[in-house]
Amino acid sequence: MLAGASPPILLKGLIDDPGVVVDLFERNAPYTPLGGWFRPGNDGDEATSPMWFQGDWVQGDFAVEGADLFLRNERMIEAAREFSGAEVVVPHTVYVNLMAAIAECGPAHTDNPVFSGRSRANTPMMLLRTMLWSGLFDRWEIRQVTSIWWLNDVEGGGFSYWPEGPENPPQQHVGAMANTALVGDNHGMFHQVEPVGPFEAGTRLVAASAELAPVADGSGDWAVNHREHQSFRAPFDQIRASVLWKADVYSSEEERRRVEQDLLSLDDVARIFDEDLRRRRADFRFDLDRVNDPAQAASLAAVYPEAVPTGAGESVFDVYG
Ligand SMILES: [Fe+2]
Repeated sequence: MLAGASPPILLKGLIDDPGVVVDLFERNAPYTPLGGWFRPGNDGDEATSPMWFQGDWVQGDFAVEGADLFLRNERMIEAAREFSGAEVVVPHTVYVNLMAAIAECGPAHTDNPVFSGRSRANTPMMLLRTMLWSGLFDRWEIRQVTSIWWLNDVEGGGFSYWPEGPENPPQQHVGAMANTALVGDNHGMFHQVEPVGPFEAGTRLVAASAELAPVADGSGDWAVNHREHQSFRAPFDQIRASVLWKADVYSSEEERRRVEQDLLSLDDVARIFDEDLRRRRADFRFDLDRVNDPAQAASLAAVYPEAVPTGAGESVFDVYG
């Protein structure tokens, strides 16, 4: 799968009334800067975060009112079926990204994998990624399809993707992105957000605890606030707002039952890595007591390195990380 995914499917005019989505964004504000695996351990007051904000609309048992516009979107589900050739599509996640004034790219990456029985709920993210890149756990990987939908046409903000694999140059979705979606395999295909305007002031950094929300003065503007201090203000249509959707896909109900019952334990993970490390004559073995130890994660990642995609732009997190 990682050798290159099929090109994503482009959907145009997906949402009948994008104004409904503007309301959804407003009702579910405020949004906070991206945390997680790109910026571990950063939650301070210093202005260190690019203006890349995120919010969850559907996650586990949680769902905001109105999110079914995306979660149960028939055209998206049908496109996921067509893209994957899978009969069973189980949408499970909707989250949003809001970006502005980032003069570098986002990181070129593939999305974090999930395996039957092993997810971020019980397994360190780096270990999940190394499991993916090792190719040793393909039998347990839950296949997922991702859709990204864009609300506005902003300055910059294109989307680069590598449908022919990381060793070939990327393609771009840019210009006239409003109300379009790309439905494809973001877990197998590298992708990257291009620089996002406005560009006059370069990359603007905000506190990790800052919040992006509508200004309550009828102007339609949005602003970034941190401890009563406003650091950025712009009309909402100048903010790159996207809605991401993820679904698990199975070729049949029978496959779904098989995958759901075929759970991977940490003991299995250790055993399978060890068999392969022995074959490779590596000078270490997987130590279950060091599952959370970054040094062990680094040793494993050195044996099973991630690909580096050709022609990727410099990541804002490499510059300001
Ligand atoms: Fe991604």
